[in-house]
Amino acid sequence: MTPLTITLTVDARSVSVAASSSVAAAIAVAGSVATRRSTSGQWRGPLCGMGVCQECRVDIDGRPHQLSCQTLCADGMRVRTAPQPPKVQP
Ligand code: FES
Repeated sequence: MTPLTITLTVDARSVSVAASSSVAAAIAVAGSVATRRSTSGQWRGPLCGMGVCQECRVDIDGRPHQLSCQTLCADGMRVRTAPQPPKVQP
């Protein structure tokens, strides 16, 4: 029987989502909209939601450049987005 809820880790934060949720949805549940940085350093996040724009790429279980909008969550999965920017000191 398929579990109703799946627990995974997004940037070291434990997140529980409904079974069959996409990784992009789990990232949103974790409170982020950013998945990666462009080559010029701009933040990127899911845009098309159908595997075309490539803006939602993240590291999943150590595999880089996985499309979070096209990947279903799995129990125990480890998702890593781009590193957060350093804190600016006043
Ligand atoms: S959101 Fe466009 S490829 Fe994933």
